[in-house]
Order: sequence, then C-alpha cells, then structure tokens
Amino acid sequence: MDIQKVLSEMTLEEKCSLLSGADFWHTKAVERLGIPAMMMSDGPHGLRKQDQTGDHLGINDSIKAVCFPTACATAASFDREAVRAIGREIGAACQHEDLGVILGPAVNIKRSPLCGRNFEYFSEDPYLAGEMAVSLIDGVQSQGVGTSIKHFAANSQEHRRMSSDSVIDERTLREIYFPAFEQAVKRAKPWTVMCSYNKLNGTHASQNRELLTGVLREDWGFDGLVMSDWGAVSDRVAGVPAGLDLEMPSSGGSNDRRVLQAVREGRLSEEAVDVAAGRVLQMVDRYLTSRRPDTPWDMEAQHALARRIAAECMVLLKNEDDMLPLHEGEKLAVIGRFAAHPRFQGGGSSHINSFRVESLMDALQGMPGITYAQGYDVKSEEPDEALIAEAVEAAAHADKAVIVAGLPDSFESEGYDRTHIRMPRCQVELIERVAKANPNVVVVLYNGSPVEMPWLHCAKAVIEGYLGGQAVGGATKDVLFGTVNPCGCLPESFPIKLEDNPSYLTYGGEGDVAVYAEGVFVGYRYYDKKKMDVLFPFGHGLSYTTFAYANLRLSADRIRDTDALTVSVDVTNTGKRAGKTVVQLYVGDKECEVFRPVRELKDFAKISLEPGETKTVTFTLEKRAFAYWNVKLHDWFVESGAFTVEIGRSSRDIALSSEVYVEGTQTVPMTVTPDTIYLDLMKNEKARRVLAPMMEKKRLLDNENGSSSEAAAEAITDEMNEAMFLYSPLRAMVSFDQSMTYDEVQALADEINNA
Ligand code: BGC
Repeated sequence: MDIQKVLSEMTLEEKCSLLSGADFWHTKAVERLGIPAMMMSDGPHGLRKQDQTGDHLGINDSIKAVCFPTACATAASFDREAVRAIGREIGAACQHEDLGVILGPAVNIKRSPLCGRNFEYFSEDPYLAGEMAVSLIDGVQSQGVGTSIKHFAANSQEHRRMSSDSVIDERTLREIYFPAFEQAVKRAKPWTVMCSYNKLNGTHASQNRELLTGVLREDWGFDGLVMSDWGAVSDRVAGVPAGLDLEMPSSGGSNDRRVLQAVREGRLSEEAVDVAAGRVLQMVDRYLTSRRPDTPWDMEAQHALARRIAAECMVLLKNEDDMLPLHEGEKLAVIGRFAAHPRFQGGGSSHINSFRVESLMDALQGMPGITYAQGYDVKSEEPDEALIAEAVEAAAHADKAVIVAGLPDSFESEGYDRTHIRMPRCQVELIERVAKANPNVVVVLYNGSPVEMPWLHCAKAVIEGYLGGQAVGGATKDVLFGTVNPCGCLPESFPIKLEDNPSYLTYGGEGDVAVYAEGVFVGYRYYDKKKMDVLFPFGHGLSYTTFAYANLRLSADRIRDTDALTVSVDVTNTGKRAGKTVVQLYVGDKECEVFRPVRELKDFAKISLEPGETKTVTFTLEKRAFAYWNVKLHDWFVESGAFTVEIGRSSRDIALSSEVYVEGTQTVPMTVTPDTIYLDLMKNEKARRVLAPMMEKKRLLDNENGSSSEAAAEAITDEMNEAMFLYSPLRAMVSFDQSMTYDEVQALADEINNA
C-alpha cells in the first residue's frame, strides 16, 4: 500500500475516524479506498478470539483454542527456545483465524506478589522479562502476525488500575520498569505497543509524550503503532501528538469528532493526525501482505507442545529423601480438587476457552495403585471435615500422598489485587492433617504468584507448577514420575511472609498516588542487599540429577566499558539422569557512587546434559551489563571499578565468582559552584588541577600548626579534621579562614568550570 498516496486521498474526517477502533476488536475499514478492517485478539498465552459481542474481561465466550502455559510459568522455564516455539504456534493459530495482531506479551514487572495480574507477567527481573518477551514476539511475528507488547508502562498493580499514578524516579524506570519493553522494541520489533491504563509521573500513559514518543520512538527507535489499552484514553486530543495512534476499543466516534474539531480550530496539527493514521494504515498493510488464512491449526499437536513445555516450566522447590520421582507400582493417594480440575490459567482478558483440559487424574488414568480424594473445595476457605477425613484415610493406606493445591480463581485475577499471599485455610489444614497420616507428602502447587508456606515442613517434596496451561495435568505426571527431569527455576523470589516484600510499605499507593519508593530494589535486588532470608530465592530450582560448575574464566581481568568480556564456565552433570540446568550469570558493582544491588542477572543459558557429560557455556558481557542509568547524563554509565562476575544456581547460591576491573570511558559533567564540597572537588580532575596550589599551602599550614595540646588532639582527631574539610564547601574560605571573599570563590568556581 502506498500509505502517503492513500492518506492524500482521504478526507480529514476519514483520517480522524481511523484513529479509533470500529468495535471491540477491529480497526475501521475505509471501503471507498479499499482499506479493509483488521482484527486483533487477546493474548497472550493463546487466542481469545471473540465475535462482535466482545468484552475485555474474558466474560463472553471466545472460540475454542489452546491455552499454553501462562507467562508466570514460561518465565520459569528460562528457556528462550520454548517460548519462541509457543509464539510460533500462537502465530500460526492467528493466521488460521485471520487475525492481524495478538495482544501480548505482557511484560510488567512483578513488584509485589500482591499484583492480581502477576500470572500474566514474566518476572521481577527486567532482564529475564525482556528475554522472554523478545522470544515470544520473535516466535509470533515469524508467522507474519503482529504482537502488542503491553502494558507500557509501570502498570505493576491492578488496584485502581485506571486512575493510579505510578510515581517512579528516572533511574528506576530505566533499570527496572522499562528494559523488558526496550529490549523487545530494539531486538524483536513488535508491530505494536499497548499503552497502560495508569498515569506515569502525573500523566496518563495514553497521552504521555515523554513515554510514547520520547522514550519509545526517539530513544529506542520504535517505528510501529501505539494503541491504547481498552478504555485507557482520557484526553484523546492530547494523545494524538503524544504518540497514541489508535484508541481501542472505540468511543463510538465521539473522540474522533473531538480530534477533528481540534484540527479545525488549530489546536492540533493535521500532520499529527496524518502520522497516527499513517501508522494505522501501515499496520493494516502489514497484515494484508502477511495474511495466510489457509494456515492449518493443529490443536492436538499444540496440546502436546503445551504439555512438553509446561513440564519444563515446573520448579522443584524441595525434594527431601529423594521423595521424587515417584515410581510406578507405588501406592499413591492423589489428593486435591486441582488434581481433577486443575487451575491452569488466570481470569480476565487472557482467559482462553480451552478445547481440552488435561488434569493429573486424566493423565494417571489406567495406572494401578492410585486413589483420589478431593480434599478441599474451591468455593469456601473453610476446611471441610468430610473431605479432609477422606483424604487422610486415602493417605494412610498409601506409600505416598501427592497433594495438588494452590490458589483458586478468586484469589488472583486481572482487575484487582490480592490482599494477602496465604493459601486457603482448608488447603493448609489438609496438608497438615495428611502429613500426620503419612509423612511422605508431595505438594504440587498451581498458582500464579508466590504463596506463604507455613506448611512447608509437612511436605518432603514441593513442585511449583504455576499456571501451566491446559495440558498441565500431563506435564505434572511427567515431572512427578521423572519422564521429564524438572528444570524450571523461580523467576521471582518467594518471601517468607508478605511483609518482607520491598514494596510492602507503599504498594497500592495512597489514593491514586502509588510511589514506587523502593526504587531499583525490587525482588532479589532487595532481599540480597538486606541479606534477608527468603522462602525460596530468585533462580532456585532443583533437579533429579546434580550439576557441578567449574573453571570460571574471564577473557580479561581488566577491560574498558567499550570492550566485550567473555565469560565461560564448565558445567557437568554429576548425577545418574540426563537433565537440564539453567546457568545464571550475575554481575555486581563492588563500589559505586549510587546505590546498586549486590548482583543482577545479566545472562543465562539452559543446557541439557547426559550423566557425566560436561559442556562449556560461554557468555558475552557488554557495557550494559556493568552500567547503571545516570540521571545527570540521562544515559547508561559505567563507573570505573571492580565488578563481581558470578555463576549461580540462584541469586542466593553462587557456585563460582570472579572479578573484573571495568574502566568507564565517559565522565559525568560537573558544574562547580561555591557550594560544591571538597569531597566532590577532589574527584574532579579539573578541580584538582586548579586547586592544587591552594591544597599544597593548606598541607604546609596543617603540618606547621599541628594540635595546640594533647586535649585538643583528642577533641579533634585527624579523621575528624579530614572529614570536616572534605565535607566543607568551597565557600568555607569566606567564613572560616576568611582567605577569600565570596566573589573570589565564585571566580575560582568559574575557573574550574572553564578549565
Ligand atoms: C487488558 C489488556 C487486554 C485488553 C483487551 C484490557 O482490560 O488490560 O491486557 O489486552 O483489555 O481485552
């Protein structure tokens, strides 16, 4: 399509009307010019394609589709290829259904376990979230279908989601809340970005120029379309020049008319409308040139893939006495409603109408020695004596009890936040009572976000299954019996209790103001710095085999920040089973002017090893791995100094550690004033040069004077003297020794600045 030509043939009214959807899921057609409508659908872990009676909360039915493991689960796979494979399948399904864009991935950071929508998000770690987003987008778009990475930005709570103002400092945004979007935009080039409901630092995301144009387009080079989250538009006229191209779903034409009027009255330029309308046409054009509605959609094959990947997402949290894997022939009590009716996805816009759901009991069908007991109900938290008694009885007669527990739908969902992270009382009591009847308890959890585990001592083995998609039952069986060796790792920290979480004091905000007061110290960045015990750390995940790490090698012990550093490590499977492990690479700045975490994930690799096999894993670290966001430079900056390079099994289990000195090649500009203190002056090359003669004079004088008496020497120690000096401003010369006037000090400051 010749977009400029089409635009030139359109009336202003037609162009304005293109800036909002025709209905819940379609763009508007311009029949006169042969431009068809384009359909999009949620996302992100399968298709929620609805007809005209659409809604954005997953209320009305959508077509039958395949529900893949949700983002909380796929992030635990730490497997880029697995996520790409899901993306490819979703893309193919979209082609089959003639959809232009799928609304996802959702990459908001898990600031608190309370966020009702955490199940749809990847991680508390921006690097991991970014890698997962890039993989999913790559996969979908390889099929000629667009994605809409969402919700841009800083939408880490559901509480007051349409009115809340996320107040976040520049460095925290750049280091924590932006990178997943940034990486995706730069590397995977999503066709579209969806702005969030919330305000960011006082301005609605949907009309935030700094966000939608400054950061997204000017800094990161985004050249696709920005659409609003469903109903996120406040002032549509302000949104157009800010960079919001498409309002979704629609305003019944009323906002289009406001835009039209603003152009007519000269409050908005026609060029701004052309830019936005041009981007809508560009998206439709991409759809038209890539559509392949004859693409087959093999749901059974996708179900099998969903099962394989769900198994590789499961995290073995604990495994005492080699409780797992289970062995065929063991007498098993399988307990818990979720064993027969799994919770495998979350509520809201991502809710898929699965064509088939496979429970653990389905997967175990025909296997001898299995007794099932429901154990609890999901409608009430109250322990049900009869159900518990039945479960206890089953456990008492079994070799092992497998309890499938977790969070019922009402405990976490899009649209509202959790108020606590406890499991339902009936489930906790069930676990405790079953453990009394049979000490060999295995707990499998289906939940979208961390829970407290006061019952942990009652279970010898625990699997975190997250919300594993429609094939979760088969996947659970595969992991329990060791057909698949567990290889997932936690993409988030599990705190001992909610109150430990760094955002606990301010999460949710006061009224509409949500200050992200913990700054960059989100998740393990906080727990590690505080040396706080957690229930399970970020990156934790066991296997039925063991892995040894050796020979951490760095390509240099000193680099400049413009050089790359190669890091390699040998990993050996020291157990008796084949297995996969996630090699995690962390970097930490040993000393820095700004507050930084002890370590941050900078790369990872998931590798597969036969028993006894060794593989060398090699990573390449570039400037960004060492840099922090400097708010004076408004750029990434490496402060010269030593950095730790660590290989971990989790953020708390560091297997190998080394160090590299990185020399920063940028300088942070400094403007000296009479108020600048000597501590800062002495770090500045120009200031040191200009002040050198003065400093020499001071040294001589100090030597000459010494302390007048022993008592004086005690009252003013050398350390104190030094500190008093370093913390004094340049203008101290005016008030203390009166060696200069204020004007002379100002002249000195100017001299340094001009040196
Ligand atoms: C959600 C989006 C979703 C949209 C359309 C909104 O409520 O926040 O993630 O894509 O609805 O259903």
